Amino acid sequence: MNAPIILPIEKMKEEPYANVLCYPRANETEVQTRIEELRKHGVKKLEFAGGTSVFNVPVLGKGFVGIAVIAHLNGQRVALKIRRVDADRLGLQHEASMLTKANTVNVGPKLISATTNFLLMQLIDGDLLPKWLELHKKKEPARTVLMDILEQCWRLDATGLDHGELSKAPKHVIIDAKQQPFIIDFETASINRKTANVTAICQYIFAGNSSVAHMAAETLGENNHDAIVEALRTYKHNKNRENFEHLLQICFSEKK
Ligand SMILES: Nc1ncnc2c1ncn2[C@@H]1O[C@H](COP(=O)(O)OP(=O)(O)O)[C@@H](O)[C@H]1O
Ligand SMILES: [Mg+2]
Repeated sequence: MNAPIILPIEKMKEEPYANVLCYPRANETEVQTRIEELRKHGVKKLEFAGGTSVFNVPVLGKGFVGIAVIAHLNGQRVALKIRRVDADRLGLQHEASMLTKANTVNVGPKLISATTNFLLMQLIDGDLLPKWLELHKKKEPARTVLMDILEQCWRLDATGLDHGELSKAPKHVIIDAKQQPFIIDFETASINRKTANVTAICQYIFAGNSSVAHMAAETLGENNHDAIVEALRTYKHNKNRENFEHLLQICFSEKK
C-alpha cells in the first residue's frame, strides 16, 4: 500500500483536495466555510488512505451522500463523513441522530460529533462484508461474525430503528481486524418505518442470489432455502425473540 497522505486542513484549499472536501466540485467560499466547520470539530489534519479513490486521492469510501476519509482528532484517527455538495440531503444531522440511537444498543461506529457537512465517528479499519467473506473461508469465524451481524439487526428491530439499506449490505457492513462487524451508514435510517433489519439482511445473506449469499453458502454449507423463507415470514409477522432465535437456528443449519 502507498504511504498515507496526511495534510493539515488548510491544504484542503488546494486541488485535488478541495474537490474531495466539496465533492464533486469546489468553489472558493464553500471550501473556506467547510475548513472553518472542520476546525470547529477540532480536526487539524486529514489522512487520505483507503481502498477507493476520488480525483486520484485515496479515501475510505464513497456513497451518494458522502465521502469518508480519516481525520486526526486529539491524537486519534477517526472517520469523517463529508457531505457531498450534490447530496440530496440538507445536512448530516439526521444521520447523527439515527446513529446516536443505534449506539444506544451498541450498533454502529460510535458517533463523535456532527454538523451540516461533517460527521465524525469511530474509524472502522477493516473490510466490507463481501471482501471479508472472500478472505475468510473457514466456518469459524464466518459463523460467529454473521451471527453477530444478525444479533445487531435484532437489536435495531427491537429498538424500532430501521436502517433502510441493509439489503445493500455489501457496502454497509465492515468487519474490523478483531473480527468485529459494524453496521454503518444510518443516513436513510428511520424510527417511523416498520423495521426490516433482520429480514433484509437475512434475505440478502441467506436467501438471495448475491455473491455474498453464494460465498456464505460455500463457507457454511448449503442451507435450507424453503425453511429460511418460512422462518422469515414467521419473524416478519411477529418479531419476538423466540421467532428470531428460530430463524437463527434455521439460517445456520446445513441442509440435510
Ligand atoms: N466509520 C467508518 N469507518 C470506515 N469506513 C467508513 C466509515 N463510514 C463510512 N465508511 C466508508 O465510506 C463509504 C461511504 O459511506 P456511507 O456512510 O455509506 O456514505 P453514503 O451515505 O454516501 O452512502 C462506506 O461504504 C465505507 O466504505
Ligand atoms: Mg452508503
